[in-house]
Parts: sequence; structure tokens; C-alpha cells
Amino acid sequence: MRARRIATLDWDALEADIHACRQCVLGSGRTQAVPGVGDREARWMLVGEGPGKEEDRKGEPFVGQAGRLLDNMLGSIGLRRGEDVYIANTVKCRPPHNRTPEAAEIGACLPYLERQIELVRPQILIALGRPAAQALLGREIRIAAARGQRFAYRGISLVVTYHPAYLLRNPQDKARAWEDLCFARRLMAAGD
Ligand code: URA
Repeated sequence: MRARRIATLDWDALEADIHACRQCVLGSGRTQAVPGVGDREARWMLVGEGPGKEEDRKGEPFVGQAGRLLDNMLGSIGLRRGEDVYIANTVKCRPPHNRTPEAAEIGACLPYLERQIELVRPQILIALGRPAAQALLGREIRIAAARGQRFAYRGISLVVTYHPAYLLRNPQDKARAWEDLCFARRLMAAGD
């Protein structure tokens, strides 16, 4: 079974599998798959939605405008991309026209995200936006209602916040996202 096989892969085999994946339609429209980036032993792991145009071109998550905002958000709580931070996406291939990934696409890609989390073993997960939060929690949620709470994903603390692309369109919510990151930092400091 595919998911069981993916659950046994090491980093190199996992990334090779992601690059070769044709499990859903997103595999046929991508320039390249975008597995993830950062410190593979990070305590912080961030999960976005899916690669956009720039990410599809460069092969790295969050390198476009939303990524610059994400880097600033990380900086605001004393973190830097790649230093104790690993960044992945819910789907590894760019959805056409940056549409929201469909449930079947998220389901097909979930074993990869699950394996990444298992390999990184972070102390905290931050879901950026609704698709990531729903993929990790396995149920429907609204970010506005779920933020400020500590969830758990297989025993790992999970905090949800707004997606940086949403914040670019809705800058009035940036302060709330910053509160969410401070909440996550407090959970980390308390060892939760
Ligand atoms: N948005 C995401 O969710 N992920 C990226 O990698 C880029 C933009």
C-alpha cells in the first residue's frame, strides 16, 4: 500500500518519491515538485497550502511575496528560515492558477506530509491557513474560530494561524497572526 511504503522512506527516498509523484492531476501541471525546506531537525515546523508560481519555478516553498511576509513573521518572533525551522506545504505541486487544492489532491499528498513530520519530529506545528489546518486535524475548521487554541497532531502541539497570502490581502489581521506566533512561542517556552 502506497501510504505504508511512504511511511518507511528516509529523506532522500522521500524527496525522490515526491519528485516522481503522479498520484493526482497536480503532477502533470507542475514545473517541479516542491518537497520542503529547512532544518530537518527543527523544533518548529510550518505547513503552508501549496506552491505558487515562484515556488514551482524555484523548487522551494514560500519564496514569493507571501514568503517574504512569512520570513518577516518568523523574524518577529526571533526565528529564521532554515534555523530550527522546517517549512513544508500540504500539497507539493502547484495547483493551476493557484487555486485551493482539492480534497482528493490533499489526500493523495498527505502521506508525504505525515512522513516529513515524522522525520523532523518538531516540537510545534504551525498550520498556515485552512487547508493545512484541516489536513492536519482531519476535520473542517475556520481559522478565525480555531486560532489561539492548542491542538495536537499525533502528540505534537499544533497552532493554526492565517496564511501569509491571506494577510497580504487582509493586512488588518496581521496583528492577530503575530499574536498566534507569540502564543506558539509561549507554548514552546513552557515545553508544551
Ligand atoms: N503559499 C503556500 O502555501 N506555500 C508556498 O510555498 C507559497 C505560497
